[in-house]
Amino acid sequence: MSARTPKPRPQQPVGVRIAGTGAAIPSRVLSNADLERLMDTSDEWIVQRTGIRERRIYDREGGETSETLGTKALLQALENAKVKPSEVDLIIAATMTADMPTPSAACLIAHHAGCGEAGAFDLNGACCGFIFTLNMAHEFIRGGQAKTVAVVGTDTITRFVDFTTFGRNAAILFGDAAGAFVLRADPDPAVGMQAQSMHADGGRGCHLYIPKRRESFYNPAEYDERAVDRIHMNGQAVFKFAVTKFPQVIEETLARAELKASDVDLYVCHQANVRILESARERFGLSHEQLPVNMERYGNTVAASVPLLFNELRAEGRVRDGSLVMFLGFGAGLTWGGSLWRV
Ligand code: COA
Repeated sequence: MSARTPKPRPQQPVGVRIAGTGAAIPSRVLSNADLERLMDTSDEWIVQRTGIRERRIYDREGGETSETLGTKALLQALENAKVKPSEVDLIIAATMTADMPTPSAACLIAHHAGCGEAGAFDLNGACCGFIFTLNMAHEFIRGGQAKTVAVVGTDTITRFVDFTTFGRNAAILFGDAAGAFVLRADPDPAVGMQAQSMHADGGRGCHLYIPKRRESFYNPAEYDERAVDRIHMNGQAVFKFAVTKFPQVIEETLARAELKASDVDLYVCHQANVRILESARERFGLSHEQLPVNMERYGNTVAASVPLLFNELRAEGRVRDGSLVMFLGFGAGLTWGGSLWRV
């Protein structure tokens, strides 16, 4: 070995523990009854088609942004993990709604949470962003490059929602929130991610996108001034995609871990539509306890939905040490993925 050859790092297996979780929700509630006053829709239609009863809406004038919600969620997760902000090596924010193109949400969250000069960057995987972030953060720790990594899912998606009858197919679905995990290296190599899957199909991006100008419309005939900078969604195409890919990614992740569906204690899924989750529940013979739902209170909160739900389940004592938990997401891009953990 020449003097210049770096010494190989010891290959000790490292476990990765979800040491703490936190969440933040805006104070403004928008119920289905409120939507009935804003557009031509009904509580009955929304509950039947989606399972959603109310959602939270960020208050821009009151200072709520993806960054402030993300900071609140991170501080709660750090406190829960009993980790000081200065101990965090890296912060990754899953978001598609940073307040500005730059600085990133993660840079501002790190600064406001007091994480000193920890590395910080954003990852945009839309509603699957938290899953991609979790998979990536895990590997930084397992590979020995970091000891403590914070992952934050934060989105204020309602800024891209048109709350009139024109935009009603998306308006009923979405809400704002943030959730965070603090991940730490652990001496027990058995804890951490057991298998993961990450997929995308940009060819079907046209089914769920936010056109920024006239030229962005996939179908020029669909151009309408009111639709610029607003969520453009083909609800039926997205529904079909989700009910097909969702079970596939569960199967793929299980196969990689050589497990069967009933071996997993909890499926913490992106909360988009209760009918999509019901179809997976039936297909794999899962109970409501195994595949829980909280979207009736929050709607679809994009990258925040998975950490928001997991934080609730932990607070309710429904996550036991040693449990197998599969985190799952699907969304715009189109993107879909899974992350199976022994917690
Ligand atoms: N309130 C009342 N009526 C509505 C409505 C609303 N908010 N939105 C649409 N409608 C009407 C339509 O205009 C249509 O009327 P018509 O038959 O007279 O033309 C009718 O309801 C059926 O519309 P359709 O779009 O076929 O409804 P749907 O059963 O597909 O439900 C969604 C719409 C959006 C709830 C459903 O497609 C869905 O959840 N898709 C998945 C979306 C998703 O999860 N996106 C995020 C992924 S991360």
